[in-house]
Amino acid sequence: MLVILKRDNEEINRQAAQLIASAIKKKPALILGLATGSTMVGLYQHLVILHKNSTIDFSQVKTFNLDEYFGLPATHPQSFHHFMRENLFRHVNVPQCNIHIPDGTIRSNYDQYCASYEQAIRDASGIDIQLLGIGRNGHIGFNEPTSSIASRTRLKVLDQETLEDSVKSFAPGEERLQCSITMGIGTILEARKILLLATGESKAEAVARSIEGPVTSSVPASALQLHPDVTFILDEPAASQLT
Ligand code: F6R
Repeated sequence: MLVILKRDNEEINRQAAQLIASAIKKKPALILGLATGSTMVGLYQHLVILHKNSTIDFSQVKTFNLDEYFGLPATHPQSFHHFMRENLFRHVNVPQCNIHIPDGTIRSNYDQYCASYEQAIRDASGIDIQLLGIGRNGHIGFNEPTSSIASRTRLKVLDQETLEDSVKSFAPGEERLQCSITMGIGTILEARKILLLATGESKAEAVARSIEGPVTSSVPASALQLHPDVTFILDEPAASQLT
């Protein structure tokens, strides 16, 4: 694992954006796995700037998002569809038909839907770079602790810590979420390169256990130790519990 320490968010975002920009330059039809969450906002701002100054052309890029809240329509302001539209897609030129985000509104044939998401990734010849954030509990995507390392795209019950973190951004009285649709850890590990960003002290324990702890389903991100090409880009607080 490559661990890159940066002074602050700004530096993390710049480095991650440059990495993605040079990958798109090398392979204009890059297959990009995307994440949502507060950690990604600044990175997407950098990608938008690089697009606007003509450094990045997304016209051949295909994207696959990790996850979506189960039960939220794409129009819901807290949905990951909405997040992606507002933070990235409406500012850049990824063709709509190249954008894939799990559908939070499916009501039946869940296994079939999840298998078709996996098939779409395979049909695109797999993910070149998978972007990840990390939960305080070590989750990646919404693979909560106890997720199998071999897990595939599926419905997953959200754990208490994740619900507490998510609910902060919901208006009072809005529906409490229970589940998500998420790529599995096995799906994530098939990406050719993985880039995980983490900032802030609240992530320090999860980061240390992921990088230095044993590989265990109690810390889903520790499964990344099994992947041959993973880069963590961290600020100092997030790296503060590393030996
Ligand atoms: C969201 C996702 C999650 C987040 C993680 C960190 O698509 O995959 O695993 O990356 O919960 O979220 P933030 O960045 O809000 O701390």
